[in-house]
Order: sequence, then C-alpha cells, then structure tokens
Amino acid sequence: MAKKVAILGSTGSIGCNALEVIAALSPAFEVTAISAHRSVDLFCRQVQTARPAVAAMTDPQAAKVCRERLGGFKGEILTGPDSLVEIASMPEVDIVVCAVVGAAGLPAALAAARAGKTLAIANKEPLVIAGELLTETARQHGATILPVDSEHSAVFQAMRSGSRAEVDKVILTASGGPFRTTAIEQMCRATVQQALNHPTWSMGPKITVDSASMMNKALEVIEAVWLFGLPVDKIDVLIHPESVVHSMVEFVDGSVIAQLGTPDMKLPIQYALTYPKRVRGVCERLRLEQLGKLTFEPPDLRKFRALALGFEVARSGGSAPVVFNAANEVAVNAFLAGRIPFGTIVELIERSLDAHTPKSRILSLDDLMAMDAWARAYTAECLVDLPKVMIRK
Ligand SMILES: NC(=O)c1ccc[n+]([C@@H]2O[C@H](COP(=O)([O-])OP(=O)(O)OC[C@H]3O[C@@H](n4cnc5c(N)ncnc54)[C@H](OP(=O)(O)O)[C@@H]3O)[C@@H](O)[C@H]2O)c1
Repeated sequence: MAKKVAILGSTGSIGCNALEVIAALSPAFEVTAISAHRSVDLFCRQVQTARPAVAAMTDPQAAKVCRERLGGFKGEILTGPDSLVEIASMPEVDIVVCAVVGAAGLPAALAAARAGKTLAIANKEPLVIAGELLTETARQHGATILPVDSEHSAVFQAMRSGSRAEVDKVILTASGGPFRTTAIEQMCRATVQQALNHPTWSMGPKITVDSASMMNKALEVIEAVWLFGLPVDKIDVLIHPESVVHSMVEFVDGSVIAQLGTPDMKLPIQYALTYPKRVRGVCERLRLEQLGKLTFEPPDLRKFRALALGFEVARSGGSAPVVFNAANEVAVNAFLAGRIPFGTIVELIERSLDAHTPKSRILSLDDLMAMDAWARAYTAECLVDLPKVMIRK
C-alpha cells in the first residue's frame, strides 16, 4: 500500500522539493493533501499535477481565486488557517510533512502529533517555541517526529551509531552564510539582496535571512534540545562553509560520526519519508575528490550575536524561546520589506527579550500564543519607535 503524505506549505522551497521526492518515489508514496498560503499560480499547477484529495489555501482571498481556476478539480478545497489542522488530522494520511514557515505551522504540527501521525518536520519554529508541548503530545499519542532540517537529519542518522547515554556532544555545522567573512559594520548595513545571497543553500527568504544572521543556527540549537532530549551544553556549533558535513555526533569514546551529502534538501526529506529504510532517490552523489578539502572554524559569537543569544535562550527555556522567535519573525519581515537595516534585526530581538516578563515553563497552547502575540506586538511597536533602536557596533 502506498504511504499517503500531506504536505503543509507545498509551494515553498521544502514543499516543492518534497513533491519532487514523492514523484520519484511513486508508487510507494502518494500525495493526499497539500496546502499553501497565497501562491495561487504555483499551487494551482501543483494541484493539477499531483491531484491530491484535498487542497488547502489558508488565505481566503487566494482560496477564492483557486476555486475559480480549479473548476474541474474533483477533490476538496479548504480555506483558512484551520484547514492545516484538518489536513494534518485526516485519518487516511500517514505522514505529515510540515514545511510551513514560522510559528504559523504550530497548530497543525500539534494536530499531527495528536493524531499519532509520522510528522516529518522541516518547520523548526514550532519546535523552538513549543518543544516540550509538541514532543510530549507526540509521546502521548504515539506519533513519531522525524527531522527534515539537514543538520538534525544528520544528527538523527549519526545517533543510530550508539545509545543516547553514549552521546557526549552534538556538533551542528553551519555554512556561516553570506557574511561569514564580512566585517561586522558592513554586515549591519547589508542590503536585502546581499542577505538573500546564500553561498550554498537555496531556501525560502525567511530562513535565508536567518542564515545570514546565524539566527537559523540559534533556532537549530533549541530545535536539537527538543528533538534529541539533550541539555544545551551538549550542543556545539562549527562553521563549515562547504555545507557537505551536515552535522556530527561525538560519542563518549571519542568517535565522531558525521553524515555527509551534497547540499540538497531532497536527501533529508527522502530519509524522513522512507525511514528506517534507505532507497535510491533523486539526489546527486557526493564526489569528495572534486571538493578536495573540507574546512571548519569556530563561529564568531561577537559578530553573530543572534547565535550567542540562542544559547542563552535555550538555557533559559520557558517563555524566552517564544519571544526570541516571534521578535525575529517580525524583524525579518521588516528587513525584507526594506524598513530596517540588517543589524537592527538582532537589536529588536534583544529589546523584546529584555522587555518580557519571563515564565519558567509554558505548557498550554493558549499561554504560548499569548506570549507570541505579546512579543509580536512589542516588536512592532519598537519598529514605529525606530530612532531609539541603536545598531550596536
Ligand atoms: N528551505 C530549506 O532548505 C529549509 C531547510 C531546513 C529547514 N527549513 C524550514 O522549513 C520551513 C519552510 O521553509 P521554506 O524555505 O520552504 O519556506 P518558504 O519557501 O518561504 O515556504 C513557506 C511555505 O509556507 C506557506 N506559508 C507561508 N505563510 C503561511 C501561513 N501564515 N500559513 C500557512 N502557510 C504559510 C507558503 O505558502 P505561499 O507560498 O502560498 O506563501 C509556503 O508554501 C521553515 O520553517 C524553515 O526554517 C527550510
């Protein structure tokens, strides 16, 4: 029987790759449901090609246009944010690929966990803000959370070499992004185009900006805490500009097990779908002799303050990761819209963290969403008040 897959965020970078992987794995896998937010043209093409039973467009205006364009579509068309929850809970769906960007994916990720699905999670923000709630819900309902993020997929694969108790350290690799060798003053003044010019990965705009500030690695540190049940002190970050070693696990005997591959998200997506099996897929093979050498260096935590903050936030836990993430989402949108300089992103995150009243533990979705809403509103207020936001040198 074919495994039935729902892709939340099918029009994004991960979503498009997931559709390609599933097409290559057909007939062992089939697309049962897909969702998008506003990308009408691409979504309509995907519906016509993949022919899912259910298609959801979360934005009501875009959904209206979709309905008109997809007149002959035999399946169901849903709309509104709740449609993601509906798709994630469909009884016939085996695997939910969560590839929405930002905290918007949280209710659906939780719904997939509650429905006992296999949750192939690319969308790191829900794990960052609700790691305890999400992993505990999955445990209670027999759901399996499989990482799609390349670093966490690498760690997950390396972990199979020993027991959890034998793990000494997880080493997340980072490309260093487009500003790895840029002077801090110049980086703070970077344009949107420069920030979106990632040297090794092709990704959606939000994660590309996060990679430039190394906020992405900060989010990944917190993601690793929850995915692997590790204390933050067992997680390290190493810059590896070639993006070939996707991450490593150091065991107590000193053995370091790494996973390598070309920088192509289709590989971790496929592994999450076929796990625990491996099958031939669509990814290009790694040719180390063509690369010649692989390089590594420690991250500059003074320059990439978001990463330093990420470690602090991971240690604090509770409400801090919620505020950290929400402030970043608002700040990145403002940067992409040309409203603030690149260097102001981390300033806004720090201001929000400083202004919030910390809670040591947040376990209900309502409390979490309230803290998220507060941080978004506060950061938006800071944006209006911009002259007071200094870009630290
Ligand atoms: N891209 C990568 O290589 C990569 C690697 C590792 C992890 N990730 C993680 O995977 C997630 C997706 O990244 P991406 O690069 O694929 O992002 P992306 O290209 O921006 O795609 C985001 C997807 O989410 C949909 N979406 C946006 N806002 C939404 C909302 N409010 N409600 C529902 N759906 C919404 C988009 O629909 P529309 O197109 O219709 O707007 C699109 O389908 C992120 O959390 C990212 O950190 C990505």
